[in-house]
Amino acid sequence: MTQNRAWTLASYPTGWVTEQNFKLVESPAPAPQDGEVLVKNLWLSLDPYMRGRMSQQKSYAKGVEIGEVMTGQTVGEVLESKDPAFKPGEKVLTQLGWQLYGCAKGTELNKLPEGRAPLSYYLGCLGMPGMTAYFGLNEIGQPKKGETVVVSAASGAVGSVVGQLAKIAGCGAVGIAGGKEKCDYVVKELGFDACIDYKAGNLYRDLKDACPKGVDVYFENVGGEILDTMFRLMNPFSRIVVCGRIAEYNATEPYGVKMFGSILVNRIKVQGMIVFDWKDRYGEALKALGGQLAAGKLKYRESVLEGIENAPKGLIGLLKGQNFGKQLVKLA
Ligand SMILES: NC(=O)c1ccc[n+]([C@@H]2O[C@H](COP(=O)([O-])OP(=O)(O)OC[C@H]3O[C@@H](n4cnc5c(N)ncnc54)[C@H](OP(=O)(O)O)[C@@H]3O)[C@@H](O)[C@H]2O)c1
Repeated sequence: MTQNRAWTLASYPTGWVTEQNFKLVESPAPAPQDGEVLVKNLWLSLDPYMRGRMSQQKSYAKGVEIGEVMTGQTVGEVLESKDPAFKPGEKVLTQLGWQLYGCAKGTELNKLPEGRAPLSYYLGCLGMPGMTAYFGLNEIGQPKKGETVVVSAASGAVGSVVGQLAKIAGCGAVGIAGGKEKCDYVVKELGFDACIDYKAGNLYRDLKDACPKGVDVYFENVGGEILDTMFRLMNPFSRIVVCGRIAEYNATEPYGVKMFGSILVNRIKVQGMIVFDWKDRYGEALKALGGQLAAGKLKYRESVLEGIENAPKGLIGLLKGQNFGKQLVKLA
């Protein structure tokens, strides 16, 4: 009998996530019921939002319960199907979470094409992070040719796509990332005009030099002090896309923005976003991003851990910036 291995939530973290917040549980792989499909997971995506799900606080999505399998998207292979629309061997995008095997209703799965791009890309630049970059930048940021776009967490899954799309739109793209290696990658490999190392201790001055005409669009992925610094650089009638606040996900107290007045003085449009709001238009983003990838205009990098046992380590590392590119766990 095939054994499943699944990471469940053992406790809610206070502050930083630790490995003790998770429990690895073994059980026989489930059997599909009518209308269900048994999937073997091949790739697990680790994402910053998972920190928010390890909490009972009210949010845009329900948190994981204690004892429940950790939430997460996977790419998997159909092993057995009791839904006529799916055949063994087909590859699918699932919400089965941190486990090796799982059953889902056919309606909860999306078939993935094989041969167009590596399957893991459907968890990254062709998946949820790519869609986030595409809709956040275009729909909320509304960049215009010649404008300056700044994005934080610039070497990561979302940020790397934002800056490249900004360049394709004819804008200047400036990244913010932690450390010289990531900043060099953002400029030399991804083609941003500049990337500022926020750990170098001179963020405001360095950003001001890199954005001599000020900032028209700020794609916000981190929150905290970086957001406050950006408020000092925004142009009149600029836009801030509030996508993420990773610098604050493990904080026990909110940071408390100090430069809020800049919104009034500069008439900045600040809008939060959740990628699911555009779920009816994912096809459009997939076509656009797939086209840029095929044309060699969209570069992409992955950070891969091997084996389900490393999933907690991967999430903890991601929240501390130890990933370099889209964080994945290879399961098979
Ligand atoms: N709203 C939505 O629908 C949506 C969807 C997807 C993602 N997001 C958000 O988008 C952001 C990026 O997600 P991602 O999947 O692309 O992750 P990612 O950028 O691949 O990885 C996270 C990165 O955040 C940076 N970081 C961590 N702690 C930081 C801190 N204290 N200060 C500054 N930077 C820090 C690290 O890069 P450095 O080494 O450069 O610090 C780390 O590599 C997250 O905030 C996430 O929650 C939102």
